[in-house]
Amino acid sequence: MDHFQYQGGELHAEGVPVELLAEQFGTPLYVYSQATLLRHLGQIQEAFAEANPLICYSVKSNGNLALCRLMARHGSGFDVTSAGELHRAVLAGAPGRKIVFAGVGKSREELVRALQVGVFLFNVESEEELHFLGDVARELDLPASVALRVNPDLPPKTHARTDTSVKGVKFGLDIETVLDVARGVLGHAHLRVIGLHMHLGSPILSAEPYRQGAAKAEMLVGELRRMGHPIDVLNMGGGFGIHYRKQEALPAHAFAAEILPVVKRLGCRLVLEPGRFIVGNAGILVSRVLYRKESGGKRFIIQDAAMNDLIRPSLYDAFHRIWPVKLPAGATSPPEDYEADIPGTVAVDVVGPVCESGDFLARQRALPPLLQGDLLAVFSAGAYGMAMASNYNSRPRAAEVLVDGSAFRLIRRRETLHDLVAPELDAMAGW
Ligand code: LLP
Repeated sequence: MDHFQYQGGELHAEGVPVELLAEQFGTPLYVYSQATLLRHLGQIQEAFAEANPLICYSVKSNGNLALCRLMARHGSGFDVTSAGELHRAVLAGAPGRKIVFAGVGKSREELVRALQVGVFLFNVESEEELHFLGDVARELDLPASVALRVNPDLPPKTHARTDTSVKGVKFGLDIETVLDVARGVLGHAHLRVIGLHMHLGSPILSAEPYRQGAAKAEMLVGELRRMGHPIDVLNMGGGFGIHYRKQEALPAHAFAAEILPVVKRLGCRLVLEPGRFIVGNAGILVSRVLYRKESGGKRFIIQDAAMNDLIRPSLYDAFHRIWPVKLPAGATSPPEDYEADIPGTVAVDVVGPVCESGDFLARQRALPPLLQGDLLAVFSAGAYGMAMASNYNSRPRAAEVLVDGSAFRLIRRRETLHDLVAPELDAMAGW
């Protein structure tokens, strides 16, 4: 459930007509609903409340500072994966004790910065990283709290490019090796192995992998404790799916039902790293139709958002609902189920201006008849939309707006042509 609804035939973000935002800020435009964001954060907080978890919003899903600040104000910590994301979390007001740091390739500079910030957990992904972190921590004489990230080797559960817990991916320690790796740092003066980390993949539409993963974690935590590591943190990562096509996502309670019993039995502190679940349905991408054309027996809608604004369809063949911001005469509200036949529509490819055949937001999609200048809303674009946007084809990145009831404000200005060339001009200044 989100707060993007049609009222009188016009899409509104909470109390604000989306057309008004497009006119004021231009397109392509990301529009976020604060109520939706907080609602989804609240759903996770509530579903897992009995474990009093540390919820660490995954900055990679959408690192906009205003959104991160909002999350921090509502009690969230942060899952970061680079110095840049750590910078965002700190600027958002998070104390180190509410930040966890994952990623297979943390550089020395990143480790130093995270040690200085005093992050709650380093989610360590390899034996070499663990020893290197130990060396850096010793040099700085700062303690490093570690959760060993394990790859539980589960059956495929989502798109191959984003499944992080099958054999042969780069993430985590192979489950067979975790104990040996842990044994190697017993008694280390600066490393405290206090947790186990597992991020299964994303997005996941079933609770079963969490049941299987948590069972493997329970077994490992027991063995690590017997070895002498004081494990009291279980970090189950993120990955909870959202609605893209229809109401396909599970409620947070379904995941909690599999995770909480294990947390309880272990008496561990629970950490979660949700990104998409919180921000995914809280954002739409608004674009404007530039041209229509037919080619090779197909109809194309060429609009001003492209793969550089939202790469998920090109990269993962991801499905995002798309519907006109203003319902044309005779058109119905957006369908509940996009897989069903939708009367009054024509099949079109929704494409952008980028010079690649792979630049599309949807292919053979049933849409009501559209005119030049019409606005389109691409739904469920809050996560991994702007976060993965680029300047490809020297396109300035879109603006972002946050709506709260009937109020709204710009939270990232549209990039300018100068922004595009500024680093080059800086480098060439002395020529
Ligand atoms: N924790 C770790 C260690 C992760 O790697 C990720 C996501 C998360 C948490 C958050 O997962 P979430 O709750 O947002 O599902 N670009 C892809 C998704 C890549 C996910 C990367 N890691 C997409 O657009 O679908």
